[in-house]
Amino acid sequence: MADKVFIFDTTLRDGEQVPGAKLAKEQKVEIARQLVALNVDIIEAGFPASSPGDFDAVRTVAREVKGPVITGLARAVRKDIDTLWEAVKVAKRPRIHTFLGTSDIHIQKKFKSDRDKILQWCVDTVKYAKSLCPDVEFSTEDAARTDFEFLCRSVEAIVKAGATTINVPDTVGYATPQEMAERIRRLKEKVPALDKAVISMHCHNDLGLATANTLAGILAGARQAEVTVNGIGERAGNAALEEVVMAIRTRKEVFGHLYTDVKAKEIAKTSKMVSALMGLPVQRNKAIVGTNAFAHSSGIHQDGILKDRSTYEIIRPEDVGVTAHTFTLTARSGRAALKHHISSFGHSLTDAQLDAVYQKFLAVADKKKEVKVEELEILVQEELFKVPETYRLEHIQVLSGTQATPMAALRVRRGGEVVEEASTGNGPIDAAYKCIERIVGHEFTLLNFGLNAVTSGEDAIGEATVRIRTNGTIFAGAASSTDIIEAAVKAYISAINRWVASEKREKAARKGKRKSRGKAPAPSL
Ligand code: KIV
Ligand code: ZN
Repeated sequence: MADKVFIFDTTLRDGEQVPGAKLAKEQKVEIARQLVALNVDIIEAGFPASSPGDFDAVRTVAREVKGPVITGLARAVRKDIDTLWEAVKVAKRPRIHTFLGTSDIHIQKKFKSDRDKILQWCVDTVKYAKSLCPDVEFSTEDAARTDFEFLCRSVEAIVKAGATTINVPDTVGYATPQEMAERIRRLKEKVPALDKAVISMHCHNDLGLATANTLAGILAGARQAEVTVNGIGERAGNAALEEVVMAIRTRKEVFGHLYTDVKAKEIAKTSKMVSALMGLPVQRNKAIVGTNAFAHSSGIHQDGILKDRSTYEIIRPEDVGVTAHTFTLTARSGRAALKHHISSFGHSLTDAQLDAVYQKFLAVADKKKEVKVEELEILVQEELFKVPETYRLEHIQVLSGTQATPMAALRVRRGGEVVEEASTGNGPIDAAYKCIERIVGHEFTLLNFGLNAVTSGEDAIGEATVRIRTNGTIFAGAASSTDIIEAAVKAYISAINRWVASEKREKAARKGKRKSRGKAPAPSL
């Protein structure tokens, strides 16, 4: 009999706990809509009690995103649960997800309590959540390190109190697949009440075992997988959605009757969107979604692939939405050709967006003569994920050399005015960044700087990514160009534009709040 594994996507909650991956409301909604296209079953959109901004974002997702169950996380305290409920109750299918640590380490060190009190706390919390919402998920946090007898006792009481999903998280990524499978198998055996609930896996990747542990739990009887796109998440991340889904799909002889409803062809597009909006590049060799996941470089492998793809390919790239990029475009390729290639990697642009990409493409094609389709895709992403350009680079000139003091001179457009600055620095990029800070009138801490050649050719486009911090918040920026200094400067400016947009949004939210004080239910923080 076919047996469905529910995909619970927590990219917007656990994934967003990555430092600097914080998303604005509009970006959360954009990702949530793509998760609908991917056909996940449950979207965990955030942690509403953590900030008024997140409350607003989760409520907007709940109101606007149709299809999946919408949930968010709440600590096992009434005010968190009330805030979560306030945010998700507008969804057609809301869920309350709440949690409490059940391992002795958590009970003694975090709560200075004892097992009986924690058990009662779990039960009271579930009963309260159930009084608000019929769909209640309870996570026994640190379940992989929880004493097994106590875990059984807790799970039984939690299900009897009304929880419909029981999550058994490996919060610290400590378990091995055998242990996880054994835990789930024995839990099902010892707690007959579990027949009335779905068992969920939520595994962290501290030992690189998150996907393996999730799959082991599923084989042992769990029917929900909590995953994130690209495996992002707290510390080393969570089990990756694309890995769990593709393992179940590819290894039918192992997973037999099990299946998910995920539309695998949407995987590549979702991965790129999450990476771009969160400013988190995907490692090249990442399974399923890394640039190299379907690249065959050794001569022997290439020869095998040409004879029969099954020699070295276990997944067809097109099944996960990766198209074979064999085309090269030139300045003579018209808009129609561009449109055709853009739709082949799953994007549909408005006329204005197509126009903007076409102009950028012509600028690149003029410099490079030939543009690879991967490079076109980078231009499309820049257009799709761009922020309002409060600042725009108009001109840059740099000087550098072994005997010279590095210098940069910049001309930047800010609204209607044009501002110029010049500075020296430790290198030309440092000098240019100093110019920008002077123009903006604000200092930023540069946390990361990365440069990546989009293709392997000598004249490949360079893509620069930066992460900057100001007042404790991190902003990401990315830009590409045939000139890496220009890419680096534009990436810095795009991160700053993101900061400006966020400042504007917060100002507007503060103003709106002052106006509506006393009217709308505010999150009780
Ligand atoms: O890792 C974890 O245990 C969690 C729970 C709160 C679900 O994220
Ligand atoms: Zn987690």
